[in-house]
Amino acid sequence: MFPQIRMRRNRRTDWSRRLVSENQLSVNDLIWPLFIQDGANQKTEIPSMPGVQRLTIEHLIEEARSAAELKIPVIALFPATDPAKKTEGGEESFNPDNLVCRAVRALKAENLNLGILCDVALDPYTSHGQDGLVKDGYVVNDETIEVLCRQAVVQAEAGCDIIAPSDMMDGRIGEIREALDEAGFQHVQIMAYAAKYASAFYGPFRDAVGSGTNLGTGDKRTYQMDPANSDEAMREVGLDINEGADMVMVKPGMPYLDIVRRVKAEFEIPTYAYQVSGEYAMISAAAQNGWLDRQRCILESLLCFKRAGADGILTYFAKEVAEILQAG
Ligand code: PBG
Repeated sequence: MFPQIRMRRNRRTDWSRRLVSENQLSVNDLIWPLFIQDGANQKTEIPSMPGVQRLTIEHLIEEARSAAELKIPVIALFPATDPAKKTEGGEESFNPDNLVCRAVRALKAENLNLGILCDVALDPYTSHGQDGLVKDGYVVNDETIEVLCRQAVVQAEAGCDIIAPSDMMDGRIGEIREALDEAGFQHVQIMAYAAKYASAFYGPFRDAVGSGTNLGTGDKRTYQMDPANSDEAMREVGLDINEGADMVMVKPGMPYLDIVRRVKAEFEIPTYAYQVSGEYAMISAAAQNGWLDRQRCILESLLCFKRAGADGILTYFAKEVAEILQAG
């Protein structure tokens, strides 16, 4: 009549639930993406990402100090480039004095116990908002890689610790690795955006860096992956690892937990998930309306990345979460 096995026994008390819990979120799992801008020392709100601001280098330094104090391991930098500096060829990307390089140098001068990750892709710098060079309406692969290598090297020269190519060109990891090694940056790590999908969840990010209006009705489907595909992600990740990636990333996050799971199981390499701007916007907007409990949803969403197999998460909630975890 009655169940022989009662799953609820282990769930009955708080101490027992803690005892049987299989996964845990720690501050060591967090990578905090930050948006930076030039100009007067001010913070600019990003309407589609409530609570996230574009920071000048001075404010960035303050946030980096608090990140280091909270023991967040890494921050990721994303520049909102002055529209006057955007060109067809995205030349500002390899200007050693561009915003990102200046920010990295300023951060490094602080001597913090904090890794600095820089994106490699041309979209913050191109007048058309694409991640690569465009010829006859098509983003050309090999010519783009030459520019990406120059971008990676100036970022490494500035002191970047982790180069994170997010462009999805074929063969770029190997070429960037070679360019970094030749320039004497053997110790600079590469985190490949290995399985990056052509996703509608990047919308608020494109507002934040100002690439959305440039892109207009264009899309990135000739290089970013089709959300329908999973086997293809395994091939992408395998190639990036063979070309020398130290770590791989799956992006977006929550709708792609199955990919995180497969990647971790198949490749056993440090694997990260990017909880992207649209995911941030969804949770924030629902919480603002009183429809979701903000803190509980954030913590649950991040714990689920861990359960899926992620070694860490890029999340705009990183500082908030680090503070929550520190408070216990
Ligand atoms: C640039 C880049 C994008 C994101 C990270 N790097 C946008 C894109 O590919 O269009 C998205 C991050 C986010 O949405 O939070 N290549």
